[in-house]
Amino acid sequence: MPHGLDELFSARALKRDPDTLAQWGCDWTRSFTVAPSAVVFPESVEEVVALVRLANESAFALVPSGGRTGLSGGAVAGNGEVVVSFDRMNRILDFSEADRLVRCQAGLVTGALQAFAEEKGLYYPVDFASSGSSQIGGNISTNAGGIKVIRYGLTRDWVAGLKVVTGSGEVIDCNQGLVKNATGYDLRHLFVGAEGTLGLVVEAQMRLTRAPAPQQVMVLGVPAFPDILKVLAAFQATLTLSAFEFFSERALTKVLAHRDLQRPLPESVPFYALLEFDEPDMDRAMSVFERTVEEGWVTDGVLSQSEKQAADLWALREGISESIAPYTPYKNDLSVRISLMGEFIEEVDALVAASYPDFEVCWYGHIGDGNLHLNILKPADLDGEAFYERCHAISPKIFEAVRSRNGSISAEHGVGLLKRDFLGFTRSESDLAIMAALKRVFDPNQVMNPGKLLPG
Ligand code: MLT
Ligand code: ZN
Repeated sequence: MPHGLDELFSARALKRDPDTLAQWGCDWTRSFTVAPSAVVFPESVEEVVALVRLANESAFALVPSGGRTGLSGGAVAGNGEVVVSFDRMNRILDFSEADRLVRCQAGLVTGALQAFAEEKGLYYPVDFASSGSSQIGGNISTNAGGIKVIRYGLTRDWVAGLKVVTGSGEVIDCNQGLVKNATGYDLRHLFVGAEGTLGLVVEAQMRLTRAPAPQQVMVLGVPAFPDILKVLAAFQATLTLSAFEFFSERALTKVLAHRDLQRPLPESVPFYALLEFDEPDMDRAMSVFERTVEEGWVTDGVLSQSEKQAADLWALREGISESIAPYTPYKNDLSVRISLMGEFIEEVDALVAASYPDFEVCWYGHIGDGNLHLNILKPADLDGEAFYERCHAISPKIFEAVRSRNGSISAEHGVGLLKRDFLGFTRSESDLAIMAALKRVFDPNQVMNPGKLLPG
């Protein structure tokens, strides 16, 4: 049991009861042991600094915890660590209209930042199904992507400044909201995607942008998987897409069983593409749609006729993750450059058919970003650990297809515990040695989320 916590935190901000430990000690993954020793709820940067210093002196480990919507076990505390929740550091501290910048605490919920931007007539474009509970600090620590990356990029692109408490308890301010700053290493970018292994992000300056035109949503039926890319290229040649997503018929079936939604098209089709674009581009979109039908890539399509219908079409895609959660899915989150995507899709498709003949497989993802989500569903009669081990054992075959194209074994979900042992498929020996050396610089006593991302 770590010493000194009771002196730092009041009973309200320090919890050790089994329910709190179970709830705050894990993320959306369900395959890992959850066993933290305590959960703390700091309310200020000073409290975070005192906590990190105590962890260094008393040799206990810290696991940062945001909205706990992660899918790779990055926020799982399985070894008596102290969980650091940012739930009580969730305020907007400052807004500058001229700079289009919001300064906020790490625990601000993504949806609250989006709503604040809207109130100011602006837009925060990073968006995903978990926006209602994920937190900005967690988004930064995983460089979260989501459904609008094709147009607006990843969380990294919206971080203008960061305040971080490093693993040794120093407070550093990185970049401070500047657009231009040619003064050497940009430390801000080291903390984006670091999964809390170098320090704790406590504050951020996030950029906002102009709100887009009203959006239109289209769902198209695509019988052959590789044709999805031809459809993408045809639309991109003519208009700016805000999203280009895909899902399989099996993924759709799971959502329809889980939620009260309509099938998008009268006939079922093996795959569906979901597109979003600016309403003023509608005529051009319709003529591209007609061409994709003439080419035989698309069988049918539906265009949203109201905001409600647009939201329902999006729910078919965004609801997949939640609808398959009861099947304890083994998640793959792969990416390669778009130019290699065609051959990659064919190879992975063949590997999946050969590797998982007796498991149900759900495909979906952000194909416009070169990002495939491949979820293997656990059969009800197979024990969780045995299922995890079987999937884990097959993963190298799929990761080899990724490696041979210099792709990534984790496009947007992070490495955490789930992908840690496979990091070498995407990062070189030199990369890994440099990452371990950087960890020693920022976190010499290895108190920050040990065992995640890099082997402990
Ligand atoms: C998604 O694209 O739906 C999210 O990354 C979540 C998931 O893959 O399950
Ligand atoms: Zn995703």
